[in-house]
Amino acid sequence: MKRPGLLFMVFILLSASLPAQRNDPFLGITDEKVLPMLKHLPYRHGGMNVPAEDGRLLYDIILDKGYQKGLEIGTSNGYSALWLGIAFKKNGGNLITLEIEPKRAREAQENFEHAGLNDIIDSRINDALKEIPALEGKFDFVFIDAWKPDYIKYLELILPKMNHGGVITAHNVTSEGSSMRDFLEEIQQNPKLSTTIDRSSRAGVSISYVK
Ligand SMILES: C[S@@+](CC[C@H](N)C(=O)[O-])C[C@H]1O[C@@H](n2cnc3c(N)ncnc32)[C@H](O)[C@@H]1O
Repeated sequence: MKRPGLLFMVFILLSASLPAQRNDPFLGITDEKVLPMLKHLPYRHGGMNVPAEDGRLLYDIILDKGYQKGLEIGTSNGYSALWLGIAFKKNGGNLITLEIEPKRAREAQENFEHAGLNDIIDSRINDALKEIPALEGKFDFVFIDAWKPDYIKYLELILPKMNHGGVITAHNVTSEGSSMRDFLEEIQQNPKLSTTIDRSSRAGVSISYVK
């Protein structure tokens, strides 16, 4: 077999071994208001948002585990929170999302309203380092996607507020790993956490289950 043919066969075999939603991150998303936003919002805002594949990864984790109480650190215009929000809506849960920049947070709030997710997503404008200590109750899902060198601080603040069996996820652990070495070391070595790294996007997502 010629080399291009062989490469094509390898590609087909690898594609077939991935879950179908990793080939099409929008597979099975039927919400008429949210679907167009999931498809088009990032392209209008230039790069700060998670790729759709990573949004889908987080959505699938929330649904698989039946999580109900979520926290996101770093809202921006709300793209990743839309993925999380529709998953929590399905589970009968809710999400708190934190953003330090008022202009971005207000844009996110408009997006949540447009998506019909206002009653699911509680969007707060504050420094996460100040807001997290004041949060009441426990969480079973956290997504960290804010200032990279502060990941270790977010982790230290959130760990005591996690339910057993919950998960702490974080974005850009591959693409910006050099800005968060202390965080990466901690999630691999902390005996209370069981961590894997999903490298299917260029950014990389850490997934740390709380024992
Ligand atoms: C990469 S963007 C988030 C993108 C978003 N998660 C998405 O995928 O749609 C990071 C955001 O974190 C915010 N941020 C940085 N430090 C923060 C802090 N200490 N507290 C809250 N938000 C913070 C930034 O203003 C920025 O909007």
